[in-house]
Amino acid sequence: MRLMLILITTICLLNYSEANNLLVVFPIPGKSHSILGHAFVRHLLNAGHKVTYITPIPMKDVNPALRQINVESNKNCFAPEEVLDIQKLMRKEVDMKDMPTLFTMMFNIANATIQHENVQNLIQDPTEKFDAVIAEWMYSELYSGFSAVFNCPLMFFLSVSPHNMALSLIDGIPNPAYTADHIKSNTIPPFTLWSRVQELVTLLDWKIYTWWVNDRNVNSYDKAFKSAVVRRGRILPTLDEMKYNASLMFGNSHISTSDGIPLPRNFIEIGGYHIDGNIEPLSKDLKKILDEAKHGFIFFSMGSMLQSSKMPEAIKSGLAKIFGQLKQKVIWKFEGLLPDKPNNIFMLDWAPQQSILAHPNCVLFITHGGLLSTTEALHHRVPIIGIPMFADQFININRAAAKGIGKRVDLNYDTPKNLKLAIEEILGNSSYGDRINELNYIYHDRTTSPGAEITRWVQHVIKTKGAPHLRSPALLVPWYQKLYLDLIFLIIIIIVIFSIVIKRLIGYKKLNINVSKKRS
Ligand SMILES: *[C@@H]1O[C@H](CO)[C@@H](O)[C@H](O)[C@H]1NC(C)=O
Repeated sequence: MRLMLILITTICLLNYSEANNLLVVFPIPGKSHSILGHAFVRHLLNAGHKVTYITPIPMKDVNPALRQINVESNKNCFAPEEVLDIQKLMRKEVDMKDMPTLFTMMFNIANATIQHENVQNLIQDPTEKFDAVIAEWMYSELYSGFSAVFNCPLMFFLSVSPHNMALSLIDGIPNPAYTADHIKSNTIPPFTLWSRVQELVTLLDWKIYTWWVNDRNVNSYDKAFKSAVVRRGRILPTLDEMKYNASLMFGNSHISTSDGIPLPRNFIEIGGYHIDGNIEPLSKDLKKILDEAKHGFIFFSMGSMLQSSKMPEAIKSGLAKIFGQLKQKVIWKFEGLLPDKPNNIFMLDWAPQQSILAHPNCVLFITHGGLLSTTEALHHRVPIIGIPMFADQFININRAAAKGIGKRVDLNYDTPKNLKLAIEEILGNSSYGDRINELNYIYHDRTTSPGAEITRWVQHVIKTKGAPHLRSPALLVPWYQKLYLDLIFLIIIIIVIFSIVIKRLIGYKKLNINVSKKRS
């Protein structure tokens, strides 16, 4: 009887929120991107949708409403362990700030994904139908082709804070005079004249570079999608048409973790959606260590992609030394063993990060500053010290420092010394705790949970057939009109014509005078 009741309510609930058939594409073969993809999919499944999920790192979940399309071979395009080696990053052998390197890497992943046999099998099958496509935007718009194939609305997902490249797809390029580039900026607004010049140069550099590589994108797009669309009796719209045709963009950000730049109405902030309300319980041993930290403990992790064991020996031993002098315990995510480690340091091969940050004795988080980590720190009210290594980590830490919830320490041979000063500053000064409480309030003060925001907007886009009412009119205005260059051009023409006419008139007048003088 009880089972029957549960069954009936479940069926009613399923009918209540319409079940849609969704294609979700998160193709980046990195742990943090898969955390974001998996969490996104789980929210959709929990809301009763059917999900087809293109991923290089399949979920272990078993759910009849979930079908996974494995693109594991994307790891051949980008092996995080190799590329993101700490020493190579320190020596600047790999420069993730370099536009051609980054864009080419991401193009290779996108290209491999859409040409992948499993993906081709899906799109070439005319019986496959979807109500919407949600694709991660990671320096490539190639996935917009899925929405052309299935003739359904497209939604982008952005894993970092909103920035000019992403916003240009749904609105326009924000003014670089007060919008920091998410990778290259070393400061946050307000900018000095020099920083403004740098922002402008970055912007132009990006525009020229993307124009330069446009052909390779168009070729890949045509190759992957043309036949699938033709098979369905339509013609493939151009990549340019499709990439500016997203209904909205989800952003893994929140005002508490970014700058307050104006955002278009179809940019939906869902920062923190990956944080599960039910924190996984700690293992018995770890729980005991943390519970017994009477002066609190510091959690140190360089994230899932970087291994702190790969740091140069001198830095590792220097860090162990300064940690050993602290009265706090230090929980260090470290792959391996460190000889002669002080007693207050505890090494973990793998750390249940959220459960550790959620522990009331956690007083400080030393992190690489990835947006997942900084968001989790904010969620659990833990001040941070950032040791940024690549991508948006620099700007995340600069923002955290500007907001007063953390400090930045760069990785080099002075790191142990500088880290010690930063730890003393944060633990000795109550302002960091006060600020993290304020910012934590801002972070949590929302009308809807970020997970509910996802399902609401997916539903909204499908119900309103692509939500054209949300589209920014800026997409229809060419850049020279935005800058009023046409008006300036017109004014110049008028002035030129006017001055020619005046000159002529004066010329005639002189001529007339001369002629009349002669006659008289
Ligand atoms: C752009 O998106 C809208 C809404 O999803 C859709 O109706 C339209 O066909 C799309 N345009 C192209 C060129 O596919």
